[in-house]
Amino acid sequence: MLILEKGRVLDPSRGFDEEADVVIEGGRISEVGRGAGARHPKNEAVRRIDASGRWVVPGFIDLHVHLREPGQEYKEDIASGLRAAAAGGYVAVCPMPNTRPVNDNRAITEQMRARAKDVGGPRLHPFGAITVGSKGETLTEMADMRDAGAIGVSDDGVCVMNAAVMRRALEYAKTFDLLVSQHCEDHHLTAGAQMHEGHVSTSLGLRGWPREGEDVIVARDVILNERIGARYHVAHISTLGAARIVREAKARGLSVTAEVTPHHLLLTDRELIGYRTFCKVTPPLREDEDVEAMRQALRDGTIDCIATDHAPHSSLEKDCELSAASPGMIGLETTIPLLLGLVRDGVLSPLRFVEVMSTAPARVGRLPGGSLRVGEPADLTVLDPTLRWTVSRETIRSKQLNSPWLGKELVGACTHTIVGGDVVFTR
Ligand code: NCD
Repeated sequence: MLILEKGRVLDPSRGFDEEADVVIEGGRISEVGRGAGARHPKNEAVRRIDASGRWVVPGFIDLHVHLREPGQEYKEDIASGLRAAAAGGYVAVCPMPNTRPVNDNRAITEQMRARAKDVGGPRLHPFGAITVGSKGETLTEMADMRDAGAIGVSDDGVCVMNAAVMRRALEYAKTFDLLVSQHCEDHHLTAGAQMHEGHVSTSLGLRGWPREGEDVIVARDVILNERIGARYHVAHISTLGAARIVREAKARGLSVTAEVTPHHLLLTDRELIGYRTFCKVTPPLREDEDVEAMRQALRDGTIDCIATDHAPHSSLEKDCELSAASPGMIGLETTIPLLLGLVRDGVLSPLRFVEVMSTAPARVGRLPGGSLRVGEPADLTVLDPTLRWTVSRETIRSKQLNSPWLGKELVGACTHTIVGGDVVFTR
């Protein structure tokens, strides 16, 4: 038995925000309530964690990470990625299939799941590819990958550009009830782009990726999916226009969900001044009005959830000129303090913050967790909203440090991550 005592318990699944104890037995939540812990004996069989001054919440779930295994273990692997996830307060992560080789078949999906089981810690729910090799041509055997544990399909890193292929993919995925996460980028509109197209790209003399490069794909897919009704999901949404299209589609009752990254809620293309490769990311950091639109859309439910798009790259891919650098930044270990900043600024309420980190991704991905109701799996995050720490090699578990927050002091951190009743991380 494990008892988390006297924490501020926040459970968006039932609008609960009170000081309470959480009692865990047999890997499940058995009681939540003030004084619930005191009714149990004080002996060795009962482990107690003092959660006073901390938040106790349903464990965080990330629908979009890159763990680089198989094939690019020098950047990250399943073991280091899951350690980073646990330290970031995540009880479950969904790795994208842009590994080497691409996870486009049952064997790789099984291998990833088996590796995660060996390593232990957070749960791993992979995405399989939509098309073989993510080449955008031939559909994968989605049912096979689903049977091996894939929760959805995506060609993330590239967009399914051919509308006929995408239409068939939506139909096929619908048959197997798989989430279809699209990387929305019209590659003709973004050819050669290094960053967002705007004043900053012009002044830096860099080729830009216009907002329309994202918007036209979101609009196209919403139209393609209207009659099909598959579980269509916009990965890493970043533009004002895309948010508007998703909002209108939802208002019409269409099947669409969306995720946003912490960096698209916080940073703009001005970060690229100085050609900072750590700020080169796909989709690119945009402008103030897009950041404002992302915040508004996250508040009003147009955007369902936060996903980190944790994209580790080594110094080989980042200590170079901007045009040669690979896009992406790590994110698993910095999301809690970054999002808590938005809570402190009044952009998100505490309950909405927990919802977009846990309850909503569980719903979108149809994953266990996201709630502290009695009987639910005991997947929890305990966080200290006041803990100060500095992003550095000493504090980050990921193999990589490609973060614009490297060297910065942040406020707030996970202190315990609990998966199925087991404490898999303690700070
Ligand atoms: C992703 C990666 O590194 O795998 N990078 C990123 O900037 N989001 C893939 C991608 O979406 O390009």
